[in-house]
Amino acid sequence: MEKEIYLAAGCFWGAEHYLKQIEGVTFTEVGFANGNTANPTYQEVYTDTTGYAETVHLRYDPLRVSLRFLLEMYFKAIDPTSLNQQGEDRGTRYRTGIYYTHPDDLPLIQYLMAEEAKHYALPLQVEVMPLANFYRAEDFHQDYLVNNPTGYCHLPVELFAYARTHSDSATLEKSHTYTLLLRQAKSLADGETDTIALMANMAALLHETMHFWWTGFYRVVGDELLLGPFQGPVACMHIAYGRGVCGSAWQQRRTLVVPDVEAFPGHIACSAASRSEIVVPLQVDGNVVAVLDIDSQHYATFDHCDSHYLSLLADIITCH
Ligand code: SME
Repeated sequence: MEKEIYLAAGCFWGAEHYLKQIEGVTFTEVGFANGNTANPTYQEVYTDTTGYAETVHLRYDPLRVSLRFLLEMYFKAIDPTSLNQQGEDRGTRYRTGIYYTHPDDLPLIQYLMAEEAKHYALPLQVEVMPLANFYRAEDFHQDYLVNNPTGYCHLPVELFAYARTHSDSATLEKSHTYTLLLRQAKSLADGETDTIALMANMAALLHETMHFWWTGFYRVVGDELLLGPFQGPVACMHIAYGRGVCGSAWQQRRTLVVPDVEAFPGHIACSAASRSEIVVPLQVDGNVVAVLDIDSQHYATFDHCDSHYLSLLADIITCH
């Protein structure tokens, strides 16, 4: 269930030391990303001719820290408008970059980049790309500031204390709330044989507990999705296979997280107030029988944490 992201933030000594102290980060290593040569050494990258960026590879537990929080912390440690320079370090190897390994992370990264850009008059210079390649740097560079506490660092030391003392309380609270909610969901499902009755109470439980904008189910009936039990404003009743977020989640048989519904091609706007959405398919024997659809009035409400717990909730309904 661990997730990963690669962040280039200038000199990787300080960047790793900062990022590794954030609660929920489970692993870090430094290396060279998105360059043009095989097996680069530090000395080769230092010539600034290899195309590599000094980069921190992070693994994190999405039930404790969100990608959103990590990127907000990342932006605190860089000047995102500076091209190929952070602090006094200059060169393409010191460029800033967010390199993702799963395309599902891209919409959120793009949304957060646009949000960050609002704070600056100059355009952001942070490269957003899929990770093309990554080579771990020599051991000397790993945990450099732990092994060399007085070593060079372009970051102010206050940032390290900041990383130690600021956890992603929103995600920690969300995980806690979902854990309690799932306990209640299991007891509600216990002995209940009617799926629609169960969906009705699950929609109510989720909606009341999490304060979403719209929470409900669409069932697969024939060749379309038909509105099922829900809480919230009046919604569209029929959705075709492959249409909108719901029909796409059915077609792709996987959870879709949409941080900005307007950026999702073909999104069906049942309510103009909806800003972000998550759709989790309910599957029986590999077939989608329904989808759980949740809308929020805020952008980027849902992430890996929601998809994890909501998939467990979907299992409770289909396995009851
Ligand atoms: N927005 C959904 C349609 C359902 S409403 O959000 C309740 C979609 O694009 O599939």
